[in-house]
Amino acid sequence: MKKLIVFSGAGMSAESGLKTFRDNDGLWENYKVEEVATPQAWKENPELVLHFYNLRRRQLSQVEPNSAHYLISELENKFDVTVITQNIDDLHERAGSENVLHLHGELKKVRSEKHYNLIYDWQYKDIQLGDLCEKGTQLRPHVVWFGEDVPEMNRALQIAQEAEILIVIGTSLNVYPAANIAYSVNQNCDCYLIDPNPPTLNGNQKFTIIEGGAIEGMNSIIKKLIA
Ligand code: OAD
Repeated sequence: MKKLIVFSGAGMSAESGLKTFRDNDGLWENYKVEEVATPQAWKENPELVLHFYNLRRRQLSQVEPNSAHYLISELENKFDVTVITQNIDDLHERAGSENVLHLHGELKKVRSEKHYNLIYDWQYKDIQLGDLCEKGTQLRPHVVWFGEDVPEMNRALQIAQEAEILIVIGTSLNVYPAANIAYSVNQNCDCYLIDPNPPTLNGNQKFTIIEGGAIEGMNSIIKKLIA
């Protein structure tokens, strides 16, 4: 089976009803990144940080995967698929994708603020100040904040280098190192990009650009790939 990578961003889940970050009325228009998504914010105002992610988690519990998520999971019938996502939602998994690598963490997991390896399944509950790990320190969202390392990056780059087909969906490619995934595939990899407002691409690869939403774009790619 050919190795196929899907590299997704917030636009992947837009048609499920989750806001992107940088579109009009996106999350970063309504919140300041530095007040909710940095280690400094966590030090200065952990209540606000927890509130921001508690809202994201509650919202996630109320939405469903869209048909683009399902089409991606169906690709597994024909291809060896890995989804590398910047999204912290679980919609790829709920649609049935088996191999999902979360570059920026997962909303449904929490971890100790001191002991990085103490990670717990938290489902859709709120995290409160006073919720502690087994060693007695505060739990925080298991997400990557600005200024923090992206522990899964090397594994993701290795997977990308072996890709024969790459589908980039719904990302502004603004945030590094994650965006490097779009530029790390082999020269002979077949590259597609789906976005209603396609970002400027920096690498040398040639992309087939599908200007449209994730659902429309995946429907058109499926026709090409499974002809
Ligand atoms: P952005 O909000 O930066 O970009 C979303 C992209 O989705 C844009 O290019 C939109 O044009 C596109 N889009 C909008 N609606 C769409 C639809 N229906 N179908 C397909 N695409 C659509 O989100 P990301 O690129 O994911 O990181 O942002 C990257 C990172 O920045 C996030 O993981 C998060 C954020 O700050 C952290 O919090 C560390």
